[in-house]
Amino acid sequence: MTDLVVYNAAELATPTENDPLETTANGAVAIDDGIVVATGSTDEVTRAYPPENAANSIDATGQTILPGFVDPHTHAVFGGTRADEFTAKLEGASYQELLEDGGGILRTVRSTREASREQLVETLVAQLDVMLAHGTTTAEVKSGYGLDVETELKLLEAIAIADERHPIDVVPTFMGAHAVPEGMAADDYVDRVVEDQLPAVADAGLAEFCDVFCEAGVFSVAQSRRVLEAGQGAGLSAKIHAEEFERLGGSQLAASLDATSADHLLQATDDDIEALGDAGVTPVLLPGTAFSLGAEYADAAAFEAADVPVAIATDFNPNCYSQSMEFAIDLACNGMRMGPAAAIRSATSTAAAAIDRTDGTGTLCEGAPGDLVVANVADHQHLPYNFGVSTVQTVVKDGEVVHR
Ligand code: NIG
Ligand code: FE
Repeated sequence: MTDLVVYNAAELATPTENDPLETTANGAVAIDDGIVVATGSTDEVTRAYPPENAANSIDATGQTILPGFVDPHTHAVFGGTRADEFTAKLEGASYQELLEDGGGILRTVRSTREASREQLVETLVAQLDVMLAHGTTTAEVKSGYGLDVETELKLLEAIAIADERHPIDVVPTFMGAHAVPEGMAADDYVDRVVEDQLPAVADAGLAEFCDVFCEAGVFSVAQSRRVLEAGQGAGLSAKIHAEEFERLGGSQLAASLDATSADHLLQATDDDIEALGDAGVTPVLLPGTAFSLGAEYADAAAFEAADVPVAIATDFNPNCYSQSMEFAIDLACNGMRMGPAAAIRSATSTAAAAIDRTDGTGTLCEGAPGDLVVANVADHQHLPYNFGVSTVQTVVKDGEVVHR
């Protein structure tokens, strides 16, 4: 028996191999054994898979079916919040000043070290609930608020447990090189990341990616190279926070290492964009971060002109407190001036590429995981057109309704 048939949708929209966003009027999807088995017009799909014979069915009249959103960059597991820094920033403090004064990431490190693993699991699961309610069905989550072996392991264990407990597929990234601990030289700390943290993480099999904050005043290009090469040596694919505040050369490093993604890229040059495109590194733009910092957005048009597709992500963290990929799509359009179809592709199939998911995740093509969103809008354009509210009605993961 078919698990689920969603039918009668005003529009079905999905990236396909040949089309950045293929749309079908009066669309439907059938899912069996957690996998998409048919996709297309309601006539075609329901002829092969009648809704009345399915275990579950959804009449999506007037609504739009999209792939579940993929959030490829979050720092969603941490202790405490930093709402007071939000206020301080609005009064003129800069992100880097706060960090230099022991605030920012370093403050979250202190509260994260104090939290128990179970507390971290519970807060992460609560964050995943919010993500799910806004259409995310796969999310990358980074460690990086521990900065020592014990706490980095605690964070990655919390991520693994939350993944088990929650319908969202959670993809773990080790980011011991997120900040330099207070009172330590960056080079000495990189030794600790490479010699102590990374082997422990790799032995425990707790991470798929290794990430580094390559930025002026944090980790240099040479230090970032050391971390990422050691990560690759331990079997972790490379990701990098690059050219956020200053153009340091992290994109070129990512290209030379065949990294999976390079993220932020506000200061990336045309040469950087070309290098990323040539090397097959997926650029990940984070419009929520620019929005919350009052900074200029990354130049999405420059990537488009170079024909290098970008992913978008929430970057959910204590400095950018939004779990919503719906909002990221809103900002991609209303802030970065991307078209709705391009923004939705960035939040689905290209986002899946940014975390090496090549099984059709982020699409509703036959054979893809049965992860979808039914949005209460007449077509995909209405999603970012109607900003600041949630239009996600139903979320399906592996063929099961997990949010309604
Ligand atoms: O991607 N840039 C480094 N990491 C995060 C911020 C983390 C924090 O401020 O707690 C980011 O924006
Ligand atoms: Fe980040």
